[in-house]
Amino acid sequence: MPYLENSQKMSLITPGPITLGIESSCDETGVALYQMGRGLLAHALHTQVVMHSEYGGVVPELASRDHVHRVIPLVRQILRTANVSLAQIDAIAYTQGPGLGGALLVGASVANALAYALDIPTIGIHHLEGHLLSPLLSDPAPEFPFVALLVSGGHTQLMRVDGVGRYTLLGETLDDAAGEAFDKSAKLLGLGYPGGPELAKLAAQGRSGTYKLPRPMLHSGDLEFSFSGLKTAVLTLVKQSGDDAQTKADIACAVQEAIVDVLANKARAALAQTGLDQLVVAGGVGANRLLRERLSKDIGKRGGKVFYPDLEFCTDNGAMIAFAGALRLAQQQGVKDYRFDVKPRWNLEEIVLSS
Ligand code: KG4
Ligand code: ZN
Repeated sequence: MPYLENSQKMSLITPGPITLGIESSCDETGVALYQMGRGLLAHALHTQVVMHSEYGGVVPELASRDHVHRVIPLVRQILRTANVSLAQIDAIAYTQGPGLGGALLVGASVANALAYALDIPTIGIHHLEGHLLSPLLSDPAPEFPFVALLVSGGHTQLMRVDGVGRYTLLGETLDDAAGEAFDKSAKLLGLGYPGGPELAKLAAQGRSGTYKLPRPMLHSGDLEFSFSGLKTAVLTLVKQSGDDAQTKADIACAVQEAIVDVLANKARAALAQTGLDQLVVAGGVGANRLLRERLSKDIGKRGGKVFYPDLEFCTDNGAMIAFAGALRLAQQQGVKDYRFDVKPRWNLEEIVLSS
């Protein structure tokens, strides 16, 4: 258990409260137990990828129904794995938003009902805060302050992170997210869902430089992104080119290179602008190998350091929610008020702590 060893360093005091985390914002049911001073005790994930792949994307109603089936058995499973009883749980954190309304409601209602029965506090977590803090679960972990590049299916943001709840938005996408650009391009190439990993796999067989796609806003002089033009360019390219396997692989390669190029350049610019030297990469696209290689090379060359969550914590998971919940609980942010709502649309800047 590397997480245990790593997190032991966070505190030399006797182990603290145990937080159960529940993630159900999209197509993954994730649960985890995190104990302050000890670290991650157990985590489990059920992915609905196979179920949704038949439809080429997430079907919200199916997602909610599946969460209903999975969440309680998964909680039971991690309690057994960690040898923790329900009575030992001190708080329950759940993803309150953003995400699919129905899917979020499943996690939120289970969390609140269970917490009510156990007479313990709940903490509603912003999904992106979970992603943002997830590299702190890895060893070595970054230290505050750092710049975070948040690249998921719904978001592409550069944030300055000065501490838990102390986030400043440096720049974000004006339209499609990087993950969306991967997914939409993959669809145009006739690949399955989720498109990002599929496109990356195909790109590995492609020849670099065969096609050149636009790098939207690369020289805009700010930290904003735009990816919708790329999708249009891919559509034109796909129509103009043949659809033999090598051509498709070459296009996939060009798509990946264009997205990675923009992300890497803007991330480097964000470090230069803030004067910071640590970059944290979070969210599903952070699993992309080319992006990792490129960032480590570019930023390493300038004396900076790049941190990634362990691969299993890059995409949606319960560990990041349990962890963010534990940190928020330590700031006295748990509440014993079991009325709850979910926030399908929720700006990360709304949760910034006033200090
Ligand atoms: O963070 P995440 O799991 O869910 C959201 O909160 O959106 O991110 C999912 C996104 C999807 O767009 C998926 O295609 C992309 O991350 N993704 C990747 C890779 N693995 C996941 N994109 C490129 N390369 C990958 N290896
Ligand atoms: Zn996510």
